[in-house]
Amino acid sequence: MLKPQLVEFMRRMGKNSVAIIPAAREAVRSHDTHYRYRQNSDFFYLTGFEEPEAIAVIAPGRDKKFTMFVRPRDLEQEIWNGYRSGVEGAVKDYSADEAFPIGEFDEKLQEIMDGPEVLYYAFGHTSPEMDQKMIRQLTSMREMNRKPLEPPRTIVDPSTILHEMRVIKNEAEIEIMQTAADIAADAHVEAMKSVRPGMKEYEVEAMLEAYFRKHGASGSSYTSIIGSGGNATVLHYISNQDELKDGDLLLVDAGAEYQGYASDITRTFPINGKFTQAQRDIYDLVLKTQKSCVDMVRPGVRLEDLKTHSIELLTEGMVELGLLNGDPKKLIEEKKYMQFYMHNLGHYLGIDVHDAGRYYFNGESRPAEAGMVMTIEPGLYISPDTSRIPEGFNQNIPEKYLGIGVRIEDDVLVTENGSRVLTHRVPKDAEEIEALMAK
Ligand code: GLY
Ligand code: MN
Ligand code: MN
Repeated sequence: MLKPQLVEFMRRMGKNSVAIIPAAREAVRSHDTHYRYRQNSDFFYLTGFEEPEAIAVIAPGRDKKFTMFVRPRDLEQEIWNGYRSGVEGAVKDYSADEAFPIGEFDEKLQEIMDGPEVLYYAFGHTSPEMDQKMIRQLTSMREMNRKPLEPPRTIVDPSTILHEMRVIKNEAEIEIMQTAADIAADAHVEAMKSVRPGMKEYEVEAMLEAYFRKHGASGSSYTSIIGSGGNATVLHYISNQDELKDGDLLLVDAGAEYQGYASDITRTFPINGKFTQAQRDIYDLVLKTQKSCVDMVRPGVRLEDLKTHSIELLTEGMVELGLLNGDPKKLIEEKKYMQFYMHNLGHYLGIDVHDAGRYYFNGESRPAEAGMVMTIEPGLYISPDTSRIPEGFNQNIPEKYLGIGVRIEDDVLVTENGSRVLTHRVPKDAEEIEALMAK
């Protein structure tokens, strides 16, 4: 059976069109070895096929609506690199109407492009070589204008359809995403329970990722961020090499990829199991903001309004704590909060951790809709380094807050009536975290 996503994509394409969607290329890691292969997200969404060197041709107006070009079976290659579906598998297991060896794509391209008015192809996505191939084919068909050939006259990026579809998750996708969230949430709980002063950040990383794999995830959905002490104030800290010190906080931002879908969780907790008062000041402000934003999530709320709400709460709180000085309204106008809150409130989540889809239409922030999954992840980051604070920002930060970085991140599904927090299984109230760590 065709994936429902593919059926819907065809419906939206219209009959007089053809889509050519290539698989991701393999990426060299070093010399002649490769990174573990990950399929192109759109290709995966439509086909579920996870091998490289493949092209899907989708033509709703033809008898053969779904054609796949794939690597043929090859005993020698399979001994080295494992099983291939081959053309037989593409038809039998992936419901292609017909399949050919990938080596035959070039000679069939003219036939594929002849007839449909609209070509869906994403220039600038797969490779310059693939783009060149498409351009050469179009050019040559246009040149043969005394022959009965009709190359497409309209070229459309398939993401105009696909990425809009991907923004709204169906029931099957939500179920998978719930599992991805559960695995990651449980891994975070395990991490909280086992962290001790003297461990290394990479031990926490290894523990989380072992948990992901052990519970059926293919691995992490992005490189884990395990930042202790001042490292937590580096937004994309991934070296994860330092020792966990008694008295510091640990920021863990890690998610699992399960059946192709991502989860994305951040928790921040005290390495010795007990927050200091200064840490609580910052933590509780971020937590209050995070919860309040999660509470606002429902169909119709504009994503920019969520961000604005987070800025208001954090700025007011920072004035109370002495991190910012002045009138909150003016501080917001002048974007002074960006000294400590410099990233977005969240993002769509799905096959990509920063998932596909538009956030603005005609310059207007998009209202949330049931079926969207987004992260809500406010944070405050107070660098330990006061020697390079840009002009115009607060130079007199209360000493007790230096080197504190806190982010709290949950994955939230928009439902018909409100929202559901997919990552609810991992605690975030300070007392709950302390109780868990005391066990
Ligand atoms: N871990 C990536 C993010 O939170 O967006
Ligand atoms: Mn995130
Ligand atoms: Mn994250």
